[in-house]
Amino acid sequence: MNFTGKNILITGASSGIGCQLVKDLAEENCSLFLIARRKELLLQLSAELKTKPAKIFVYQNDVSDKEDVSKVFAEVKKEAGRIDIALLNAGTNSKLKPDEFSSEDAENIYGTNLFGIIYWAEHLIKEMKANNGGIIAGVTSLADARGFSKNAFYSSSKAAATILLEGMRVDLSKDNIKVITIKPGFVWTPMTRKNNFYMPLLMDVKKASKIILEGIKKEKRVIRFPLPIVIGSMSLKLVPNFIYDRLSVKMRNTGEKLRDKQKK
Ligand SMILES: NC(=O)c1ccc[n+]([C@@H]2O[C@H](COP(=O)([O-])OP(=O)(O)OC[C@H]3O[C@@H](n4cnc5c(N)ncnc54)[C@H](OP(=O)(O)O)[C@@H]3O)[C@@H](O)[C@H]2O)c1
Repeated sequence: MNFTGKNILITGASSGIGCQLVKDLAEENCSLFLIARRKELLLQLSAELKTKPAKIFVYQNDVSDKEDVSKVFAEVKKEAGRIDIALLNAGTNSKLKPDEFSSEDAENIYGTNLFGIIYWAEHLIKEMKANNGGIIAGVTSLADARGFSKNAFYSSSKAAATILLEGMRVDLSKDNIKVITIKPGFVWTPMTRKNNFYMPLLMDVKKASKIILEGIKKEKRVIRFPLPIVIGSMSLKLVPNFIYDRLSVKMRNTGEKLRDKQKK
């Protein structure tokens, strides 16, 4: 598979991983449909890339708002005609203090990280079935392995998204719709800049984007990186609960001390 001539939708395109994916895809002869709430950043990005081969269209959208997704999907469809590839990357983490347990925070995180995929996928699946195929790639996280200390909403939203995409992959293969799960480790973006704990093997966003796009080209089922964190997160699933509980808090506390040394 290659990106030439394809209509590609990217949610969460205004910063971090999504923004870098746009910059890299702009080098290809394709059309890019950028989605985020901060339209001014999308317009800025599109202006920056105006000499590149890709055609760029921008849309303001809150992926956690079902009505808004329906409205913006219709606008994209009208412009694009068809959508070949969707990169459902929009995501968020807690804005509250980690110790505050708040349903409002949960609604925000689940609304974006889980329902943001579901609302877009509902339209994309119908569209791609009618077009006899397509690719839906959703960004989850290697943090989906367990309930991490002070990060329960985020890790559980990502676990749900990972399982959702896996089920979709199985069900949609008969319709020639490839569903890809993207599970990054730590990548240096505005999201991780706020973290107050040590992030092992923190990766540059350009490298992460390259790995993701190579994986999509190869139509991998799951794109996960970097390998040591992949192995670590798989191993963590096998750790007995009583050990995990102690380890998790310890990792977090040690991490907070080490984070100061990691400040960039
Ligand atoms: N960075 C990492 O280490 C890491 C690791 C694993 C997984 N991930 C996942 O990778 C994805 C990208 O994260 P990032 O690190 O690039 O973070 P980021 O720099 O904070 O970017 C998040 C993007 O999502 C968009 N977004 C957030 N809420 C939205 C909403 N309700 N509606 C529409 N767009 C929304 C933001 O745009 P607006 O604010 O303009 O709407 C922004 O473009 C996320 O799903 C994240 O969970 C990141």
